[in-house]
Amino acid sequence: MSIAIAGTGYVGLSLAVLLAQHNEVSVVDVVPEKIEMLKSGKSPIADEEIEDYLAHRQLRLIPTLDARKAYADAEMVIIATPTDYDPDKLFFDTSHVEEVVDLVLESNPEAVMVIKSTVPVGCIRGLTERYPEGRFLFSPEFLREGRALYDNLHPSRIIVGVPSESPFSSELRVQARRFAALLEEAALDEATPVLIMRATEAEAVKLFANTYLALRVSYFNELDTYAAANGLDASRIIEGVGLDPRIGSHYNNPSFGYGGYCLPKDTKQLLANSRSIPQDIIGAIVEANRTRKDFIADEISLRVNELMHSGAASRPVMGVYRLTMKSESDNFRSSSVQGILRRLSEKGIPALVYEPALASGEFFGNEVIRDLASFKERCDIIVANRWSDDLADVADKVYTRDLFKRD
Ligand SMILES: NC(=O)c1ccc[n+]([C@@H]2O[C@H](COP(=O)([O-])OP(=O)(O)OC[C@H]3O[C@@H](n4cnc5c(N)ncnc54)[C@H](O)[C@@H]3O)[C@@H](O)[C@H]2O)c1
Repeated sequence: MSIAIAGTGYVGLSLAVLLAQHNEVSVVDVVPEKIEMLKSGKSPIADEEIEDYLAHRQLRLIPTLDARKAYADAEMVIIATPTDYDPDKLFFDTSHVEEVVDLVLESNPEAVMVIKSTVPVGCIRGLTERYPEGRFLFSPEFLREGRALYDNLHPSRIIVGVPSESPFSSELRVQARRFAALLEEAALDEATPVLIMRATEAEAVKLFANTYLALRVSYFNELDTYAAANGLDASRIIEGVGLDPRIGSHYNNPSFGYGGYCLPKDTKQLLANSRSIPQDIIGAIVEANRTRKDFIADEISLRVNELMHSGAASRPVMGVYRLTMKSESDNFRSSSVQGILRRLSEKGIPALVYEPALASGEFFGNEVIRDLASFKERCDIIVANRWSDDLADVADKVYTRDLFKRD
């Protein structure tokens, strides 16, 4: 099949590489540097499997800036452009998805558009009403950054949503099966569960799945706060709790809060989608993340003050080791440590930031350095959302809540 993909980010590029094993795939972006990198066989994002597939596999992949041509030639257009939630306007910005929809309808109105970007519940119904000539499907994406292609080679499930209100709904049900079959064909695992449902239900799956993940992070963070406030060993409590097989010993490692590109915006979006229904938990999940960051910032501030008053350092230097959310990630979109930095800066505590992925020498008024040895030398206390063996020789300076040394 001839496929076009809008967006060469984590979602778009991993799908492009995945599907280009068996199909001709044009992959489009608006950033020329990303397309240039792809043309020379390099990945614009850090992802071991994507880098390996680009270098060593036979792929029918055409990186291009010419969106109009790519969409005109495609039977299916997969949309993987960014979406964002604006907490001030209580509004989920889907304008980059709509830009692509407009272009597809101009250049190839019969193409099936599969939306992979995360959207609010009801978005596809709205698009179907606004563009009755458009053929839309929604397929939630469940990959993790840094493991994007791996997660698509080993999908936990494939879900495709069909807008029941579309004049093409019976044709789209067939196309939904076709799209699911493309993903299945490219995956390495057999018997991946495939669910075809209404688009609105598929949108809800994505937001409820991410909100559950945020709940789980918040729950173990709250357990950790409780333990720290009472002088208890959180790791022992977590181990004891997790050995109940109904709870499990996975995804339970405390942190400074949930963060990254998806969980903060998707929980807030679900809360906005839930305004008119009776609920307590979703709002509490959003609130719990703020409370956790307040607690962590207070703990750090206490340690800085202790250093000052003990005479160990007259003006202690507080360092932040990495701005990334996860140890394998190469970006720091909405990472929780940024919330800690902001709170500490409001308390008048500046930071020295070690972040080799940041070109600038400054981050929100804080000095940034890329030399690890001098960072370790200059800091009296080092704040790290995730532990790294890089810090082993200065372990006594490190403040982290990464109890199990994993994400
Ligand atoms: N990153 C994740 O872990 C993840 C997981 C599941 C779902 N999602 C969702 O998928 C969507 C994309 O996420 P991402 O992480 O891949 O984003 P990203 O920011 O990494 O990549 C998006 C790409 O789209 C490009 N783009 C913007 N406007 C465009 C246009 N009009 N035409 C073509 N390209 C355009 C951008 O330049 C960028 O390269 C978001 O809605 C996100 O919530 C992300």
